Amino acid sequence: MSIHHDGMDERINIAIDGPAGAGKSTVARSVAEALGYIYIDTGAMYRAVTWSAREAGLDVEDDKAIADHAAKLDIALAPGPNGQIVLLDGQDITDKIRSRDVNLHVSRVAANDAVRLLLVEMQRKLASGKGVVMDGRDIGSHVLPGAELKIYLTASVQERALRRFRESGNASGVSLEVMEREIEERDRKDMERAVSPLIQAEGALLLDSTGIPAEEVVSQIAELGRKKLAEAKQDVI
Ligand code: DC
Repeated sequence: MSIHHDGMDERINIAIDGPAGAGKSTVARSVAEALGYIYIDTGAMYRAVTWSAREAGLDVEDDKAIADHAAKLDIALAPGPNGQIVLLDGQDITDKIRSRDVNLHVSRVAANDAVRLLLVEMQRKLASGKGVVMDGRDIGSHVLPGAELKIYLTASVQERALRRFRESGNASGVSLEVMEREIEERDRKDMERAVSPLIQAEGALLLDSTGIPAEEVVSQIAELGRKKLAEAKQDVI
C-alpha cells in the first residue's frame, strides 16, 4: 500500500521496447491514442542527433564531437497530422530522420554514452507527469524502470524486414534481402553495446507479433494498460 494521491496519479507509464521494425512506433502511437496518453518515440531522438551530426559533416566515431554537437541541439517532439513530428531547432525533420544514411549510422550514435545521458534525462522529464507510452530499446530496463506496464515487442527478422520494405517501397533503393541483413546488423549492435543494450527488461511481457495484425497487438496492450491502471488505483486506496 502506498500514499493516497487524491486521484492525481490516475495514469500510468507504458514502456515498449524491442528490435527494429517490430512495429513499436505504430503500436505505441495507437495505444497512446486509445488511452488518451502521450506517445514518445525515443528512437526519433537518436535519429535527430544522427541526422544533424551527419549534416554537420561530423564523424559518428568521434564520440566527443558528437556529444558536444548533441548538447547544442534543441530537439522537440510534437503532435502532427500523421502522428508525431520531430523538430530540430524549430525545423521539421520528421522525414529526414528516416533516411538510409541515418539507419546506417544511428546505432553508432546510440552507443555514445554522453548522448545517451543527455537524451535519457530528456525522456525522464517527459514522462515525469505520467500518462506516456514511450518506445525504444532501454525504456523498461533503464529510462523508466518503474513503468507500470513494460512490453518487449518483437517479430521474426523476416517479417520485420518485410514491414520496413513495404513502408519504404522502392524509395530506399535496397532489396528485401539487403534490408533484412541491415536490420540484423542494427539489432546486433543495439544488443551488444556496452551502455543500456536492448534486452527484455525485468518484468517486461514478451509479445511476438509475427503474423498478428497491429490492431490486435494494440488492443492487447491497451487492455493490459487498463488492468495495470486499475491495479495502481487499488494500491493508493
Ligand atoms: O526505433 P528506431 O529504429 O527509430 O531507433 C533508432 C536507433 O536508436 C536504433 O538503432 C536503436 C537506438 N535507440 C536506442 O538505442 N535507445 C532507444 N531508447 C531508442 C532507440
